[in-house]
Amino acid sequence: MCGIVAYIGPKQAYPILIKGLQRLEYRGYDSAGVALLNDELRLFKTKGKVSKLKEFLNGQHLPGTIGIAHTRWATHGEPNQINAHPHFSQSKSLAIIHNGIIENYALIKEELIKRGYKFESDTDTEVLVNLIEDIRNNEGVLLDEAVRLALNQVVGAYAIVVLSKDHPNTLIAARKGSPLVIGIGKDDYHVASDATPIIEYTKDVVYLEDEEVAIITRNQELKIKSIKNKDKTPYIQQLEWNLAELEKGGYEHFMLKEINEQARSIRDSMRGRLKAREGIVALGGVKEYEQKILKANRIIIVACGTSWHAGLVGEYLFEDLARIPVEVEYASEFRYRNPIINENDVIIAISQSGETADTLAAIELAKKKGATILGICNVVGSSIPRATHAGSYTHAGPEIGVASTKAFTAQVTILTLMALRMAQMKGTIPRTRFMHLLHSLDILPDKVEEMLEDDSVVRLIAEEFKDAGNFLYLGRGYNFPVALEGALKLKEISYIHAEGYPAAEMKHGPIALIDENMPVVVISPYVGIYDKVVSNIREVKARNGKVIAIVTKGDTTVKDIADYVIEIPKTEEILVPILATIPLQKLAYYIAILRGCNVDQPRNLAKSVTVE
Ligand code: AGP
Ligand code: GLU
Repeated sequence: MCGIVAYIGPKQAYPILIKGLQRLEYRGYDSAGVALLNDELRLFKTKGKVSKLKEFLNGQHLPGTIGIAHTRWATHGEPNQINAHPHFSQSKSLAIIHNGIIENYALIKEELIKRGYKFESDTDTEVLVNLIEDIRNNEGVLLDEAVRLALNQVVGAYAIVVLSKDHPNTLIAARKGSPLVIGIGKDDYHVASDATPIIEYTKDVVYLEDEEVAIITRNQELKIKSIKNKDKTPYIQQLEWNLAELEKGGYEHFMLKEINEQARSIRDSMRGRLKAREGIVALGGVKEYEQKILKANRIIIVACGTSWHAGLVGEYLFEDLARIPVEVEYASEFRYRNPIINENDVIIAISQSGETADTLAAIELAKKKGATILGICNVVGSSIPRATHAGSYTHAGPEIGVASTKAFTAQVTILTLMALRMAQMKGTIPRTRFMHLLHSLDILPDKVEEMLEDDSVVRLIAEEFKDAGNFLYLGRGYNFPVALEGALKLKEISYIHAEGYPAAEMKHGPIALIDENMPVVVISPYVGIYDKVVSNIREVKARNGKVIAIVTKGDTTVKDIADYVIEIPKTEEILVPILATIPLQKLAYYIAILRGCNVDQPRNLAKSVTVE
C-alpha cells in the first residue's frame, strides 16, 4: 500500500516524481504529496489523486534536483491534506515519506510531546520523523545514524525516505516489511515502492532487504548498512519487465487490457515448463523440492483475496490428480491461530504482488516451525519470493488494475502444472490421461483467445443487470472457487453486493434471498456433477430468480432453463476454472463501467496490501 518515489541526480526532480507517482497510484490514492529541495525545502500536498496534486502545482516553478513524493493509503488518520505525506519534522528541516505502520507510535508520541514536540497530523509517520529529529539533535549524530537509531526503537513496518534541508546531496531510505527498490542510473538514483516508476530510466536495481538503511549520495556509490550498523554489499539485479507492459496499450483501462491479455499471459506462465508431446512438465524453480512435496504430510496453501481463490482451485487439483492432502488458509487467520505445522508440511504461498503483509507473516511463522515454503508470485524480486525456499514465478507480466485478473489465471496455471507433475511422479493418474491433460492444457490459450474475441453477450447481460443491488454466484467442485472469485470481482469494482456459494449450499440459507430481483450466476459447464448443478438451477428458477449460466458451447439443457447463457469452449474439468473465470471478470468490468465506477482504482482498495 502507498507509493513512494524519490529522486537524486542532475535532472529536475519534480517531473520524474509526479510521473512516478502516477505509475504507483494503484498502490493507494487517498492523497498525494511531494517535497523538493533547492535553496529551501518545500512541501506540497493535496487530498485525492495524483492528478489533483498535478493540477494544484500546474504552472508553478518547482526547482530541485532532489525530492521525495508519496501517494497514500491511509492507516492512521483520515485521508485529508494534513495527514498526506511528506511530513515535516517540527523544525521543518526534515521531510519523510512512509509506507507501513509504526505500531508503537502512540508511546513514542507521548514521549516526544513531553519533550515539547507538537504534532499537526494524526499519522504515525509524523511521529517517526520527529523521533529522527530528536535523536539527531540530542545525540549529535549524522542524519543516517539518527535514522538508524530511530528505526531501532520502532515496532512495525516501514519503507521510508528521508530528505534533509541540510543535506542537499543525500537521501536516506530504509525498509522493514514494506518494499523499497533503488534504481541505479548513470549519474542518478531513483527510489520507489516497486520498479514501475524506475523501469524507464534504468534496469539496474537493488531491492532493499528488511532492516536495511541505504545512504544514497549524489555522484557516490550506494551505501547500505543494517539497522544494527553492519555494512552490506548492494546486490544489483536486472529488471525484466519493459515500459510497454506498464502502459495501457490503447485500452481505456488497465483492467480490460489485463483481461484481454490472458491468452498471452497463460502461455507465458507455461513457457519452457510444458512440453505436451513429450509428456514433460518441468517447473525449474521447485525441481529441488519435488521429493519434499511428494513426501509431504500435506500441503498448506496460504494466500489472501483472489490468490486465496486460486489456492482453492489448487486444493482440488492436488487432491484430485496427485492425491496429496491440501488445506487452504487465509494467511491472516493462519498466522494468528497457532497452527500445527512441522517439517513434513509444505507451504505454498500465493501472491501476485509478493508483498502482502499477512502472507509474508504466515511464511515466517511456518518457516520457524521447520516447514518447506514454496512461492507462486508474479512480481519478480518482491519480498515473498525472497522469503521462500523456492518457487515459481507466474510470468503474467505487470498487473496494474487493482482487481486481479490475469494473475489469477496464471496462478491456477502454475498450480495445474505443479499438480500434474506431482501426479506424474506419484503415478496417481494413468499415462494416457496424463498425456491428454497436457495436450488440453497446451491448447488452452487458444481457447482463451477464441473466447475473448466476442464479448457481446456479456455486455448485454451487464446492461440488463447493472442496477441490481445483489448478486449470487454458484458453482460446485472446481467451480466453487470460480463462484467466489466472480463475486469478489463484482463487489470490488462495481460496489454491488455479491456472494459466492457452493451451489448445493444454497438451500441451507441463501435460497431465502431469491426472488425475481436476484440475479444468480451459475457456473454450470458440462463436466463433473453437471446434473446436480442443473438441479440447483431449477431450484433458483422455481423461485423466480434470474439465472445467468456459464455453459459449455453447444449445451442445450441449461440454455432451456436459464435466462441468459455465456458459452465457454469445451475443455477438461480441471481446466474449466481458467476459462469460466474470464467472462465473470468481464461481467464485473462492464457492469462497473456502466455504473460509472473507477475500475482500475476502486474505492478503499490498494493493489498491494503491505499492512496487516
Ligand atoms: C484482488 O482483486 C484483490 N484486489 C485482492 O483480493 C488481492 O488478490 C489480495 O490482496 C492478495 O494480493 P496478492 O496476490 O498480491 O498477495
Ligand atoms: N501509516 C501511514 C499513514 O497512515 C502510511 C500509510 C501508507 O502506507 O500510505 O499515513
